[in-house]
Amino acid sequence: MSDNAFSSTDPRPVLVLGATGKTGRRVVRELRAAGVPVRAASRSGEVRFDWTEPATWSGALNGASAVYLVAPDEGYEVVPEFTARAVRAGVGRFVALSGRGIEHVGPDFGQGMATAEEAVRESGVQWAVLRANNFNQNFDEDLWREPLRNGRLALPIGKVPEPFIDADDVAAVAAALLTRAAHTDGVTEVSGPRGLTFDEAVATMARAAGREMAYVELSPQEYHAELLAAGLPESAARMLGALFALHRAGHTVAPTDGVRQVLGREPVDFAAYAKRAAAAGAWA
Ligand SMILES: NC(=O)c1ccc[n+]([C@@H]2O[C@H](COP(=O)([O-])OP(=O)(O)OC[C@H]3O[C@@H](n4cnc5c(N)ncnc54)[C@H](OP(=O)(O)O)[C@@H]3O)[C@@H](O)[C@H]2O)c1
Repeated sequence: MSDNAFSSTDPRPVLVLGATGKTGRRVVRELRAAGVPVRAASRSGEVRFDWTEPATWSGALNGASAVYLVAPDEGYEVVPEFTARAVRAGVGRFVALSGRGIEHVGPDFGQGMATAEEAVRESGVQWAVLRANNFNQNFDEDLWREPLRNGRLALPIGKVPEPFIDADDVAAVAAALLTRAAHTDGVTEVSGPRGLTFDEAVATMARAAGREMAYVELSPQEYHAELLAAGLPESAARMLGALFALHRAGHTVAPTDGVRQVLGREPVDFAAYAKRAAAAGAWA
């Protein structure tokens, strides 16, 4: 048995990176609920881990059996050095979070995810890549929460549908890929059960919240200008522009059955998510 052998009943902890984030937080919850020991790591997490400070990596990696890898958007060049160190520390399995359509991205978007995909493929131990559509929780835990609270979400996406996925489903799939005994290296693509246009998604959230929220269509140039006016740096505005260009090209529109394949159940529907988030006061 090699030092990096992985077993689903491994008593060693699973290292969860991005453990305070939308998916990492939920992966920690899923694993702990299943009785799996977890090391929850990020700059402000239970265990301190900072991509920009390699001195923090060893403490997080020491004795870990597997790693949930959420790559940074910037400074991602260090990811292969991290995975190599992880393997030397005894890690036997990686699950890297990525995005659907990643194979079509250019230099402005997704380089962290693409680097992480390659690093785990080349790691020499068990790996899984989890490519997800846009998360539902972008609307209530991230970028689009404030615009929606202000009653106006403006994007350059037109009528292109997006099968939004719930972060709970992403985390449940990740937890399964991190721990189950049967494993084949490879890519799992996950989406929600059906595509909605952003227009339809905003209308669904407005109904659930019982208030007015408008979807406004922008040209890519108008969107870029709005992001800069809102104080985003040029690089972040370019990144979001590239993300929507990817969506407009239609690479992420078709729902996949990744959730059913891994979990044996249907993914959360957007309407159920909107109801739950509205009841929790997301857009009040
Ligand atoms: N949002 C989507 O719809 C979507 C869809 C597909 C793929 N993705 C990909 O998912 C990834 C983001 O995952 P997420 O949404 O679960 O996380 P998130 O909510 O964006 O949170 C980011 C996490 O990373 C940690 N972090 C930030 N900078 C760090 C650093 N320098 N060192 C260590 N940790 C750091 C943060 O915690 P601290 O602040 O405590 O460090 C936090 O836990 C990105 O690669 C994104 O491209 C997102």
